[in-house]
Amino acid sequence: MAIRLGDDAPNFTAETTEGTINFHEWLGNSWGILFSHPKDYTPVCTTELGAVAKISSEFKKRGVKVIAVSVDPMDSHKGWINDINETQKTTMNYPIIADPDKKVAALYDMIHPNAIDNMTVRSVFVIGPDKKVKLTLTYPASCGRNFDELLRVIDSLQLTSKYKVATPANWKDGEDCIITPAVGDAEAKDLFPKGFKTVKPYLRYTPQPNR
Ligand code: BEZ
Repeated sequence: MAIRLGDDAPNFTAETTEGTINFHEWLGNSWGILFSHPKDYTPVCTTELGAVAKISSEFKKRGVKVIAVSVDPMDSHKGWINDINETQKTTMNYPIIADPDKKVAALYDMIHPNAIDNMTVRSVFVIGPDKKVKLTLTYPASCGRNFDELLRVIDSLQLTSKYKVATPANWKDGEDCIITPAVGDAEAKDLFPKGFKTVKPYLRYTPQPNR
C-alpha cells in the first residue's frame, strides 16, 4: 500500500554496502532520507549517487542520514561504487541497500508496474526523528532528481517542525516565512518578536524565526 505523509516509516533489516542495518536503529534520533534507484550501472543513477556523495556535508550539517536502495545485489553495488567514484569524481560516503528480493522496495511501494515493472522508480522518503514520513517524491526513471531541492525541503521541514510558520513558494533558508493561519494576530505578536507584515489577513510574513 502507498505510504502517506504522517505514516510510520516501515522498519526493516537489510544488507547494505556498509554492513547489515536495522533501519530504525540506524536512523537513531536523526532525520533520514531513503531514496531508490531503478538499477545499478545505469547513467542517470550514477550521476545521482555521485551528486549526493558530493553534498553529504550539507546533509550532515542538517542532521540527516542518507541511504540509497536498488533491487540489485551487493556484488553489483560494490562494483558500481568504483564507477560512481571514478566518473563522478567523488567518494561514496553513505550506504546502498542491496534489495534483490525486493523486500524494501515492496515495503515502501517503490515498484510502479505501469512505469517500470521490475525496478524501483526514483522514490524519496524523508523521515523525521519520530520515524514518521514527512515528505515523499516520485520521479520517473528518465528524470534525475534535484538534490538542492531536497536540501531546501529539509530546511523547510526542520523549521516548520519547530515554529508555527510555513514557507512560501520557492522559499530558501534565510528568507521570510508565512505565519500559519491558525495563529491569531495577538499570538503572532508574542511568537514573532521581529514583527510581521500583513498583506491580507490570511497572508502574513515574518522574518525566519531561527535566524
Ligand atoms: C538511468 O539511471 O539512467 C536509468 C535507469 C533505468 C531506466 C532508464 C534510465
